[in-house]
Amino acid sequence: MRKLLKDFLCQGRRLEEIDRQEGHFGIKEGRIVFKIAKSLKDFSVVVEIGAYKGKSACFIAEGLKGLSSRLYCVDTWFNDGGMRQARMDTFPDFLRNISPWSGKIIPLRGFSADIRKAWPLERKIDFLWIDGDHAYQGVKKDIDDWLPLVKDGCFVCFHDYREYSGVKRAVDEKIFEGKLRLVESKGNVFLAKKPIQ
Ligand SMILES: C[S@@+](CC[C@H](N)C(=O)[O-])C[C@H]1O[C@@H](n2cnc3c(N)ncnc32)[C@H](O)[C@@H]1O
Repeated sequence: MRKLLKDFLCQGRRLEEIDRQEGHFGIKEGRIVFKIAKSLKDFSVVVEIGAYKGKSACFIAEGLKGLSSRLYCVDTWFNDGGMRQARMDTFPDFLRNISPWSGKIIPLRGFSADIRKAWPLERKIDFLWIDGDHAYQGVKKDIDDWLPLVKDGCFVCFHDYREYSGVKRAVDEKIFEGKLRLVESKGNVFLAKKPIQ
């Protein structure tokens, strides 16, 4: 019982530490992706599209702690996809921020469409987190490209569903078409699952 309480308090402190990093992500959202990652079984494959300086990646990687699961982070690390910041190389900051979890995180640098083309088709995904290009066409392409690799019944989640009309439109279309099933919309995180065929 004391160990459980100690683990719980340590975990809370670690999430608060991650929250001190710079990023487009808050602790409430961090707790959501952390919990999803923690619920996954060993040897899971997690993909994040849009990592920036690594904040959401660290929350996810913290949830994978103690497992042989891996988080693949896909990004150009050049503030692409209509970001409000100017073009700059964010990769050095990413590498510095994720260093405590570097054994868990595999960076894949490039445009998501190109990384997808090189992705081994047999490597199926247990959790897909999309926070890359926020324009309608970009989100739609990421879903069309990556969804076929996600295992049936697994989480496909999006950031900025409420704030970006392009994200909302692309996601709503997939829900309408039955390609995604809404689980919950929590703050700025939209949780869906790939339906079981
Ligand atoms: C909103 S930021 C991600 C925020 C991050 N999840 C965090 O925790 O702070 C979006 C990121 O997506 C990347 N991006 C945008 N379009 C992309 C694309 N087509 N392929 C790869 N990366 C892309 C940008 O370079 C940027 O780093």
